[in-house]
Parts: sequence; C-alpha cells; structure tokens
Amino acid sequence: MPLTTTTEMFKRAYEEGYAVGAFNVNNMEIVQGITEAAQELNAPLILQVSAGARKYANHTYLMKLVEAAVAETSIPIALHLDHGADFDICKSCIDGGFTSVMIDGSHHSFEDNIALTKRVVEYAHSKGVTVEGELGQLSGVEDDVNVSEADASYTRPSEVEEFVGSTGVDSLAIAIGTSHGAFKFKPGQKPQLRFDILEEITQLLPGFPIVLHGSSSVPQNFLEEINKYGGDMPGAIGIPEEMLRQAAKSAVCKINIDSDIRMAMTAVIRKHFALNPSHFDPRQYLAPARQAVKDMVAHKISNVLGCDGKA
Ligand code: G3H
Ligand code: 13P
Ligand code: ZN
Repeated sequence: MPLTTTTEMFKRAYEEGYAVGAFNVNNMEIVQGITEAAQELNAPLILQVSAGARKYANHTYLMKLVEAAVAETSIPIALHLDHGADFDICKSCIDGGFTSVMIDGSHHSFEDNIALTKRVVEYAHSKGVTVEGELGQLSGVEDDVNVSEADASYTRPSEVEEFVGSTGVDSLAIAIGTSHGAFKFKPGQKPQLRFDILEEITQLLPGFPIVLHGSSSVPQNFLEEINKYGGDMPGAIGIPEEMLRQAAKSAVCKINIDSDIRMAMTAVIRKHFALNPSHFDPRQYLAPARQAVKDMVAHKISNVLGCDGKA
C-alpha cells in the first residue's frame, strides 16, 4: 500500500473511538521498531519527522527508510512533518513526498497563525497533502524552542471555529495539559488533562479530528534503568496512560509519542554497556534498542491508543 494521507485514518478513528499513534523517527532502528510493531498488530501508523530529525538524518535517507517500511508492510502509513515552523519547510516536505504536514503557528498571534496556516493549507491541498494546525501552546522543549510553563497556554475554545473555518486545516492540535519532553511535571504536581476544554472544542467542531502532542507517559521503570546504569535523570512524571486512553476514545484521533521511545532505547543501551563493557559492534546494542522501540510501540498501540486491528 502506498503512503496515505491522514484523511481516512482520522475518519475511522473518530467514528470508532480510537487514536492513531504518531511516532517520531530519526534513524533506521526507530523506523523498523515502530513499523514492525504496527504491522504485527495490524494498526494504522503515522511516522513523523521533526526539523531536527531531518537535519540529523537527511530528508532523502528518511524518505528511503520510510519507503522501505511501506514496502515491507501492508498497513496504511502516513509520513508527517512534525512542528513545521514556516511555509518553506512545509513546502519542502510536501514537494519531497510527505503525505501530511503540521504547520505550527502556535507561537504567533492568532491572526498571523491563521494567515500562515492558510497559506500552507492552500499549497498542501493543491498537492493532495493533509495539514495539522495548532492553537494554544504546550510547555516543554521542541527543537530549539523552549516554552516555559509561564508561557504555555491552554487552547481557547472561542478561537477554534474561526481558526478551522478560515484556514481549512484537516486536524487541530490543542493544548489541554500535555507537554513535550521527559520532564512534564514537577515533583508533587498532579498531572491533569483539561477534558472540559476538549469537550467544549468537540461540541464546537463536531466530527473534526483533534491531535494531542506531548503524550509520553515517561515510564518509571525506564527512568530507573537509565539511572541504575550510570544516568542521572531526575524523577519525572508523564501523562498517565489512563488519561490518554480516555482521550483516544474521544475526538482525539492522533496522539504524538517521542520521549517514551527515546527513554526505552537509552535505558536498554545503557544497560547493555553496563553488562557488556567490551562490546563495540553497534549491532550488539542497536538490536536490543530496536526491540525496545518495538515493545514500547506495541504497548501504546494495544493498551493506550486502541488502534490495533484497525489497519
Ligand atoms: O515535539 C518534539 C518532538 O519530540 C521532536 O523532537 O525536535 O528533538 O526531534 P526533536
Ligand atoms: P513527547 O515528548 O511527550 O513524546 O511528545 C512528542 C510530540 O509531541 C512530538 O510532536
Ligand atoms: Zn509535539
């Protein structure tokens, strides 16, 4: 099956009450681990690439890795630009074979966000590519932008109809309490998702696909493993999976996960070197890291997103 857009994926996810996982890819082992899990569970899949990933791995290498994933599987796969900062990067990904892009104008004023998003939508739609926009700001780190908690803001339901209507976006990322990175909450702080805001937005945009960024749950066992074998990552609390399960059943059709994959790989590689200090063949530590990615993604698909068997 060729790469697909997100249109059909989201339509079915909305109707049947599950979410499609959008997992960030940076190298071959990550692409393989994610794709093998989705194939075995017969789940639709979004592979997403950040500007940082594109800088690290090169657009062509990433395209070829994703083409290989498509050739090796029979599930629908969308290739999505994560957090496109401007028109040029969106255009470059659209022209270069992506089937979906995010234009992240959330750092701009409402008016400028609309103007920028509309421009990307016009170009993307003329090429058959779907577009995700964003309203509201998550805290945490994305590429080189570090949004402090003070600057983060929930999405205002009063703005969503005008934003979606004027831009023509195909899905909308909202801020309801998730945040990027492995350090989402301070010790003692209780993770909270504003389901009331989600509900209000759903009422205003019936049938419209909503996206949640910053949805890693930061598993404590991986943090402990990282620290046990020489790391010094402070304790962190992620988004409880129960909350994500609830969100996946609602209008939320796409859930973004990156940090959990990073942590799973790092934990396994640290452990590997602690136990096998003389190893130097990269395959010896990258094979278990790839397996850790696969296990993490399989867990998310089956136990959090509910998209297994929906390919
Ligand atoms: O939201 C950000 C994603 O986790 C991608 O992170 O920009 O470090 O590749 P990155
Ligand atoms: P996490 O950092 O919670 O994995 O979020 C990833 C993300 O939102 C990518 O866009
Ligand atoms: Zn994000």
